[in-house]
Amino acid sequence: MLSMAFNTTRSIIIERGAATRLATQVLNLGARSVLLVTDAGVIAAGLLDPVLRGFAMAGIPVRVFGEVQADPPESVILAAVEAGRDCNADCVVGFGGGSSLDAAKLTALLVRGGEVLAQIYGINQSKEARLPLILVPTTAGTGSEVTAVSVVTTGAGEKNVVISPTLLPDFAVLDAELTLGLPAHITAATGIDSMVHAVEAFTSRNLKNPVSDCLAREALRLLCGNLHQACHDGANLVARENMLLGACLAGMAFANSPVAAVHALAYPIGARFHVPHGVSNALVLGPVMRFNLEQAAPLYAQLAEIVLPKVTGSEHERARALADHLGALAGELKLPTRLRDVGIGEADIETLAEDAMKQQRLLGNNPRVMRLDDVRAIYREVL
Ligand SMILES: NC(=O)c1ccc[n+]([C@@H]2O[C@H](COP(=O)([O-])OP(=O)(O)OC[C@H]3O[C@@H](n4cnc5c(N)ncnc54)[C@H](O)[C@@H]3O)[C@@H](O)[C@H]2O)c1
Ligand SMILES: [Fe+2]
Repeated sequence: MLSMAFNTTRSIIIERGAATRLATQVLNLGARSVLLVTDAGVIAAGLLDPVLRGFAMAGIPVRVFGEVQADPPESVILAAVEAGRDCNADCVVGFGGGSSLDAAKLTALLVRGGEVLAQIYGINQSKEARLPLILVPTTAGTGSEVTAVSVVTTGAGEKNVVISPTLLPDFAVLDAELTLGLPAHITAATGIDSMVHAVEAFTSRNLKNPVSDCLAREALRLLCGNLHQACHDGANLVARENMLLGACLAGMAFANSPVAAVHALAYPIGARFHVPHGVSNALVLGPVMRFNLEQAAPLYAQLAEIVLPKVTGSEHERARALADHLGALAGELKLPTRLRDVGIGEADIETLAEDAMKQQRLLGNNPRVMRLDDVRAIYREVL
């Protein structure tokens, strides 16, 4: 008997140039003063200029908070909240990659002052209403525009999450023109992150459901079919649109059928060594999938039909071919393929493995039980 719930962002606008017309959504939400949360890279890429012109023409004052850092630490969120209070914002726009969107989500939640960040980590710890919130992704991407999750780096190098339905925005605006200038290495890393979302949602041990399955399959079809094109010919708007949509669909899938060991092992790499989220995922993707084959081969074989339609052989062989194919993407797209390429050595393995074991929320979704020895072995395999 099927028993499930499916939640996503209530309104998703997909249109070239839509970011220049954000004032429409702001007015729709009855707001008058905007805090726009972004980072220096997005500003340097010139992406904000037409957006700010659009707000100016509509007579809506905007304060830009441009200090988000990758894998945002708590201090960044608190500074954005201060900025929001300072300008009496009644609407938050998150504009950028997952780091900016995650920071914006928490800012919208905390700006009214009813709750304290340190007390809302975990699942459904936040009870307050947030400010109206619009999310505009410029990477393709984390899918954060359709997830009820914000990831925060806490302390010396741990990633913590706030999970709450109020973190889903009022509007997600997907404007592929914003991603035309995304450098190839960020296109590759964020695209692989999206693929991992689709694969892990499809094989999740908890909450896997027919709706997330459809989304994961279609996401993977779009992402695999367009990643190389988007990396090698960044100006190809159709490839960019397909990547942005694929990332969003993968986000919808994993928001309802959560990610697993690839993310659990990637988190400590990102948090301790400041390796971009997509690169951290790409580093461990192949070995984690090969480890999972024992349990996940039937599902991987189904995904192989989408990614490698010509592949033949037994179910296990087709599943193995998918693991090898996805594991090889990082090298093909000139991303780091070994931990030593990102400054990680043998002496770091124990700390990484212990940190990964703390991510039981994610490991519990993995199709095959993963123990400390397994985690160490996987890190050693990619050393
Ligand atoms: N909330 C979620 O559901 C969720 C899911 C997965 C990952 N995450 C989090 O998202 C973060 C990673 O996000 P990300 O991978 O999108 O990267 P990011 O937001 O950290 O951005 C990476 C870099 O890309 C630049 N950039 C972004 N868009 C650009 C554009 N169009 N043109 C030129 N440069 C551009 C940024 O300036 C930045 O330097 C991590 O903190 C991760 O934990 C969140
Ligand atoms: Fe991710």
